[in-house]
Amino acid sequence: MWNGFTPLQLAVCALATVAPVLILGATVAALLGALSTEELIEFALGAGENPGMITFGALFVASPVQWLTGRSQVRVRKYLGISFFALALSNAAMFVLETGAGAMLSSPLLVAGTAAFALAVPLFLTSNRRSQRTLGMKRWRALHKLTYVVATALVLHVILVGDIGPGAGLITLGFIARIPALRRWSEARGLSR
Ligand code: HEM
Repeated sequence: MWNGFTPLQLAVCALATVAPVLILGATVAALLGALSTEELIEFALGAGENPGMITFGALFVASPVQWLTGRSQVRVRKYLGISFFALALSNAAMFVLETGAGAMLSSPLLVAGTAAFALAVPLFLTSNRRSQRTLGMKRWRALHKLTYVVATALVLHVILVGDIGPGAGLITLGFIARIPALRRWSEARGLSR
C-alpha cells in the first residue's frame, strides 16, 4: 500500500502514464525542431490510439471491479480519466494537424472518433468535487452517463476502422458486467461486495 493505493492500482496508473508522457516528450521535441511534424504525427498516433482505447477500457471496468472487490477505485478511475482525455486530445489534434478540422466529420469512422472526443470534454471538465457540488449529485450522475455514449462511440470507431484490439474487449466486458441481471446474480452468490 502506498498512499492508499494497492500495488496493482499503482501499476495500472504507472502504465497509463507512459503514452501521455511519451507524446508530451515528442511534442516538446517537435517544438524544439528535433522532430518533423510528420514524425510527431506518426509517433503520437501510434502511441495514442490503442493505448487510448485500453485506458478507456480500464476506466470502464473500474466500477465493476469495485463492485466485485469492495475496494474503492475512484482515484484510479479519475487518474485513468485524465490519461484517456490526454490521449483523446492528442488523437484529435494529430488528425487536425494531418488532415484539417474540416474533415473531422467526413466519414462514419471519423464521426464516431470525433463524438468520443467531444463528449469526453464535459466529462473531463466535471471530474472533480467542485463540479459535483455545483451540479448536485443527481445532475452530475446524469451528465456522467455520457460515459456510456463515449464507450459506444469508441467501439464503433474501431469497428469501422477494422482494428478491434484489447481496449474494445475491455469496454465490451464493462458493458457485460453492467447487465443488471448479471449484477443481481453475482450479488446473490456473494461475489459482489
Ligand atoms: C477519442 C479517442 C480516440 C481513440 C481512443 C481512438 C482510437 C483509435 C484506434 C485504436 C485506431 C486504430 C489504430 C490502428 O489501426 O493501429 C484509430 C484509428 C483512427 N482514428 Fe481514432 N481514436 C480516437 C479519436 C479519433 C479522432 C478524434 C479522430 C479524428 C477525427 C480519429 C481518427 C482516426 C483515423 C483517421 C484512424 C485511422 C483509420 C484507418 O487507418 O483507416 N480518431 N483510432
